[in-house]
Amino acid sequence: MRINAQNLAKIVDKYHNEKSSLIAVLQDVQEKYNWLPPEALRLISERLCVPLIDVYSVATFYRAFSLTPRGKHVVTVCSGTACHVRGAPTVLDRIRHKLKIEPGCTTPDKNFTLESINCLGACALAPIVVVDGKYYGQTTVQKVDQIVDQYQPKKRKRKVIRKRKK
Ligand code: FES
Repeated sequence: MRINAQNLAKIVDKYHNEKSSLIAVLQDVQEKYNWLPPEALRLISERLCVPLIDVYSVATFYRAFSLTPRGKHVVTVCSGTACHVRGAPTVLDRIRHKLKIEPGCTTPDKNFTLESINCLGACALAPIVVVDGKYYGQTTVQKVDQIVDQYQPKKRKRKVIRKRKK
């Protein structure tokens, strides 16, 4: 993936090229590209004068950062204890089958990335599915289609051409 160095420079400049802003810069880059491309990490390292290994350390430490391309929409299923006992495994199974991918993977059309994590800290809403930061509590297998379908790419309507009767 080619990174526009000027766009990246704007992000880093916003934080006055301060080393202490590394996490904020990584967050902005992740928001822009939906992942952290290696070229971006190299440019961040150069502009902030932070060793590349340190940039990678931070990028790999936090789960919020991804070093692999992600889909347009990130579907996260909580598999913590409270969610697990309230049906998260069946919810996750339904999403796996619907999207035809395993957790940690992205659909071939790059529309969805599926993730499974342990406890989102909102156990009262268990089981929880999060899509692009939006929480769907007390999710059931029956609700999965409704939730996921909102994020499906819109299909183009075909023009209906009617033949004239002769
Ligand atoms: S276990 Fe799912 S939010 Fe805590």
